[in-house]
Amino acid sequence: MHVVTIGTGYVGINTAAALAYIGHSVWGVDVDAGKIERLKAHKAPISEAGLDALLALPLDLKFTTDLSECVQTADVVFIAVGTPSLPNGEANLAYVMSAAEDIGKTLVPDHDVTIVVKSTVPVGVNEMLERRIRERVASNGGDGKYLHFASNPEFLREGTALLDTFYPDRFVIGTRDDLAYQMLYALFEPIIRQTFEMPAFIEAPAMRPDTQCLRTDQISAEMIKYASNVFLALKISYANEIAGLVEKLGGNMADISRGMGMDRRIAPYFLQSGLGWGGSCFPKDSLALLSMARDYGYEMPIVQAAVDVNARQKTNLVLKILYKLHTLAGKRIALLGLTFKPRTDDVRNSPAVDIARDLMSRGALVAAHDPEGLEQARIIYKDDGFVFCNSPEDAANGADALVIATEWEVYRTIDWAKICRLMRKPILFDARNLMRDHRDLVSGFDYTGL
Ligand SMILES: NC(=O)c1ccc[n+]([C@@H]2O[C@H](COP(=O)([O-])OP(=O)(O)OC[C@H]3O[C@@H](n4cnc5c(N)ncnc54)[C@H](O)[C@@H]3O)[C@@H](O)[C@H]2O)c1
Repeated sequence: MHVVTIGTGYVGINTAAALAYIGHSVWGVDVDAGKIERLKAHKAPISEAGLDALLALPLDLKFTTDLSECVQTADVVFIAVGTPSLPNGEANLAYVMSAAEDIGKTLVPDHDVTIVVKSTVPVGVNEMLERRIRERVASNGGDGKYLHFASNPEFLREGTALLDTFYPDRFVIGTRDDLAYQMLYALFEPIIRQTFEMPAFIEAPAMRPDTQCLRTDQISAEMIKYASNVFLALKISYANEIAGLVEKLGGNMADISRGMGMDRRIAPYFLQSGLGWGGSCFPKDSLALLSMARDYGYEMPIVQAAVDVNARQKTNLVLKILYKLHTLAGKRIALLGLTFKPRTDDVRNSPAVDIARDLMSRGALVAAHDPEGLEQARIIYKDDGFVFCNSPEDAANGADALVIATEWEVYRTIDWAKICRLMRKPILFDARNLMRDHRDLVSGFDYTGL
C-alpha cells in the first residue's frame, strides 16, 4: 500500500520505517527541514535502538517537507504529530489541526484513502479533524465519498520503539467505517499475524507475541490510549507512595516490588520506586485526562493523586539533598542523567530536569551529564543555567553531592572510586536505585537511595 506519515518524530519515523520494512511504499513528511535532510541521508533524527540500521536498508521509504508531493497517491495517511500540554494542562491541538489543514488543502481524492490519527488526542478530536478535512476537501471540489477515517493510538515506548512496533501487544482501531478498518487491518496484517521476517537489527523477543487487534468506536480508541498511559503512571506513583511509607516503617522496597510483581494480576512492570515518571507522554496525558474531566465537571481524585505524588517525589529528593548539605547556595551538584529514562535522547519533561531547576532555584550550580541526551538538552535547556559536561568525571569534579537521575547502565560501571576522589564531598543520591544492589562499587560514598 502507499502510506504517508505526517510527522517523523518518535512515533512517525518508527511507524514509517517499520511499514516500509514489511513491504509498503512509504513517505515521511515533516515541517522540520533539518529532520528531513537527515532522513534523506538515511540518518535517524532521534536516538532509538536499531533505527539507523533499519533506515540503511534499501526500503521504499522517502522523505519530504511537502505533503503535496505524496498525498495524492496515498491509500493511508497517518497523522503522527505532537500534542504537547498547554499551560492549563489541555492538549495543544495546533499541530494536529495544521496537519489536517495540510491534508484538506492538498488532497483531491480519486480513490479510497483512510486518514488515521496516531497522535494521542482528547476524546472528540478525531471527529473534529474528520469534519475539518471533509469541509476543506469539499471546498476544493474534492469528492468526500473516497475519504475514510480511523483512530489508531500508538503504544510504543521510547527506547524500545522498534521492538514495540514490530512486536506489539495490540492494535486498537477506532472506526465505524468498515473500509477504513479493512484497510488498516490489511496494512498491519504481517505484524498482527507476525508473519514478517524478523529483522536482524533488533533483539527479537523469545516468543512472537499473540498480537490482538481490537476494533472500537473512535471515542473508545481515544480513551484507551489515555486510560492506559495514566494507569501506568499511577502504578509508578503507587509504588513511590508505598516506598515513602517503607522508608519510615522499615523494609526493603526492591523486595516489596518484586513480591508484588510476582502476582500475575499485578505484573512486575512500573512498580519500581524512584524519582517518578516524566517524558513526553505520561505528564501531558495525565494533565489532558484531568482537563477533559474538568470540562465535564467530573473529578478524578485517583489521577490527581498520581500527579501530586509524582510532584512530591521530586520535591522530597531536593529536600533530602538540602537536609544533607544544609544550604544549597553556592553548592555544586553533579547530575548524572538528563533523559526521562535510559535508551532515549528525549529530555522533554524529564524529572532530572525538574529537580535540576529546583536545585538551581535554591542557589546550587548543576553540572549535568547524559550519555545520549546532551545534544538535545543543550538546545532545549540552553537558557536554564546548566553546566553541561561531556563526562561523568567532569560533572563530579569538585561537586558537593552527586545525583543519579536516570538509570543508564553505563553509570553502573563508571570508575566510582575516581568519581569519589574528584568530589569535594562523596555524597551520592541514587534517585533511580541504580546502585542499590551494587553498593560495594560505591562503598566510599555517603549513599541515599529512594
Ligand atoms: N513519543 C512516544 O513515546 C509516544 C508514544 C505513543 C504515542 N505518542 C503520541 O504520538 C504523537 C507524536 O509524538 P512524538 O513523540 O512522535 O512527537 P515528536 O515531537 O517527536 O514528533 C512530532 C513531529 O511532528 C512534526 N510536525 C508538527 N507539525 C507538523 C505538520 N503540520 N506537518 C508535518 N510535520 C509536523 C514535528 O516537526 C515533529 O518532527 C503525540 O501525540 C504523542 O503523545 C508518543
